[in-house]
Amino acid sequence: MKTIKLGLIGLGTVGGGVVRILQEHHDDFVRDQDIDLRLVAVASRDSSEAHVLGIADIFSTDGNDIINNPEIDIVIELVGGTGAARSFVYAALEAGKSVVTANKALIAAEGHDICTLAASKGCEVAFEASVGGGIPIIGPLRHTLAGNRITSVIGILNGTTNYMLTRIDEDRLSYDAALAEAQAAGFAEFDPTADVEGADAAAKIAILGTIAYNTDIHISQVPVEGITAISPVDLDYAREMGYSIKLLGIANRTPGGIDIRVHPTMLALDHPLSSVRGVMNAIYVVGDAVGETMYYGAGAGSGPAASSVVGDLIEVARHLAYRESIAQPVWDTEALPIRSIDELITSYYLRLSVPDRPGVLATTAQVFAQHDVSIYSMVQRGVHEGCAELIYVTHAARESAIRATLAGIEKTGLLTSAPVLIRVEDAKA
Ligand code: HSE
Repeated sequence: MKTIKLGLIGLGTVGGGVVRILQEHHDDFVRDQDIDLRLVAVASRDSSEAHVLGIADIFSTDGNDIINNPEIDIVIELVGGTGAARSFVYAALEAGKSVVTANKALIAAEGHDICTLAASKGCEVAFEASVGGGIPIIGPLRHTLAGNRITSVIGILNGTTNYMLTRIDEDRLSYDAALAEAQAAGFAEFDPTADVEGADAAAKIAILGTIAYNTDIHISQVPVEGITAISPVDLDYAREMGYSIKLLGIANRTPGGIDIRVHPTMLALDHPLSSVRGVMNAIYVVGDAVGETMYYGAGAGSGPAASSVVGDLIEVARHLAYRESIAQPVWDTEALPIRSIDELITSYYLRLSVPDRPGVLATTAQVFAQHDVSIYSMVQRGVHEGCAELIYVTHAARESAIRATLAGIEKTGLLTSAPVLIRVEDAKA
């Protein structure tokens, strides 16, 4: 049996969960994996958690103590972000140590460079916990589904926003109350704008798209819209029409390249992703051999994320201990082009607030016609005296034509508040 020595940087929610699993299951890993996974050093800003976990004797406040410790084979980076964490990851690899990380922001921005450096040093980088918390998805995409040509990856990748949309829809909570609950429960990012404006989901779909399509996708290449413009009425209208509204990360293989984006999406109620409620995450993957698959679980939290980290640790440790070949993530072997969102063709839901008087409906309808956008369904609702909402769902149309239609409608000067546009997936139109 071989011993593999671990150093952990970052003793927050996930770090604490990793220590607990390593303590509780150490002997199982010896029995089942033939590996003595030994945590020899831990660094974090604050020592209180180390005392609670009974590891004060191996604790330091300086992450460099882990990097500079020649004993350590694998560095577990759970600091997060692209500041100090970035330096630790590069320094660990330069020092010839493999890295296990949950750092979506870093991998979505610099995964290619990090994996290239790892390969040049004969080390490994593993990041299952960077997407979907406890859901196994990087592993399946890299290994189990390798016999497929993946054609679609669609995910509910942010628990905070899925929780908020569920609470607003089912329990009539206000946006602010729903966000406050998600923050209190500890799902939300330190800066919750990363959740509600979609950056968290964008990092995750960039990583999934990269792995699924063997193409380096940088987070900056993902067009993003968050949920801040969505109102309870949109959820109501969607339901009446047979749809849920979900914040989705979408990465499709198309003849013109990779179609990748994050935005609120109307999804048929019978789509498997529509039934994913609350803080849960799910990723729907379609491959040419396997067909439809879906991976479901807790996308955040101590135990789930730690589960993915420890899974990676065991895999990397086995590679190191038994010289099983190191399978670097394939990063850019296909190098497909990324398609502009202007070329997207889908159906759209548009909600327009307008004055309720003769000619308004005709004027807006004319703008659709001018841009060759065909309307699938339309309803008008009186909101209050003299004011109405026009709810349009279009037939499949090009994003650029919808943008031009919206601009044309805004130019009429009829809108009494900002229009709401939601893309419709699996359109019945
Ligand atoms: N803030 C994230 C979420 C959790 O709400 O899903 C970690 O990625």
